[in-house]
Amino acid sequence: MSTLLDVQGLTVTLPTNSGPMTVVDDVDYAVEQGQVFGVAGESGSGKTISVLALMRLLPAGSSTSGTARYGGQDLLKLRPRALREVRGAELAMVFQDPLTSLHPMLSIGKQLTEHVRSHEGASRSAASKRAVELLEEVRIPDPEHALRGFPHQFSGGILTSPRHPYTRALLDALPHPEAAGGTELVAIPGSPPTPRARPAGCAFHPRCPYASEQSRVEVPPLVAVSETRLLACHVDPFRPK
Ligand SMILES: Nc1ncnc2c1ncn2[C@@H]1O[C@H](COP(=O)(O)OP(=O)(O)OP(=O)(O)O)[C@@H](O)[C@H]1O
Ligand code: SF4
Ligand SMILES: [Mg+2]
Repeated sequence: MSTLLDVQGLTVTLPTNSGPMTVVDDVDYAVEQGQVFGVAGESGSGKTISVLALMRLLPAGSSTSGTARYGGQDLLKLRPRALREVRGAELAMVFQDPLTSLHPMLSIGKQLTEHVRSHEGASRSAASKRAVELLEEVRIPDPEHALRGFPHQFSGGILTSPRHPYTRALLDALPHPEAAGGTELVAIPGSPPTPRARPAGCAFHPRCPYASEQSRVEVPPLVAVSETRLLACHVDPFRPK
């Protein structure tokens, strides 16, 4: 595999009424050819802004630093003409919030077939067949089985055995509508910090049940914990025994 997109040190500062505010801070990642890459985080954590920066669609007055290598060029430095050539033809953005476009309580099959059934008058079996084709197109494994699943089971499959306390907390917060007996919803306590007053040390420490003294003062470095995994946590409470 070869690297398609290589983002290093991406930092975005937005203009606000009370002055510039850094909302994306030193983000690094690489996306390999053919790879599906996901970013997870709470509302306001900077997912959309980090992608708008690559698409060069930030609000006027924003500033960006870092690099985003794509096809031998740096997306962050493309001149308008080169930018127009890449955008649309090679880079596209779907302006939709998947959490609101998929209903957590309805199966994937129901949500993918309802539209074709009501708008095109397709039969139940024709609609299911089309839904399977759509899932195959986006390379979802075992599409017939996937149709009977719920939205959260997709993210569960992507992030197997998360090791970072924040990733664990995000996945624990997904609703499980198929669970018997109405299990209580789990939430991360408190709210995400505002980018203006980010806690010292690990930004998650005021809300993390595993925080240590070190978490409060020192930013955890990102270290490779296996061939495929990087982790930034002083405590690493889910380290395999
Ligand atoms: N146009 C803007 N001007 C000023 N601040 C903004 C603007 N757009 C977003 N922000 C701020 O930037 C931060 C990151 O927002 P962003 O929309 O990237 O979050 P997100 O992770 O995509 O959240 P969500 O899960 O709700 O989509 C937030 O603090 C938000 O308030
Ligand atoms: S560094 Fe500390 S506060 Fe941050 S995730 Fe790890 S245990 Fe929690
Ligand atoms: Mg967003």
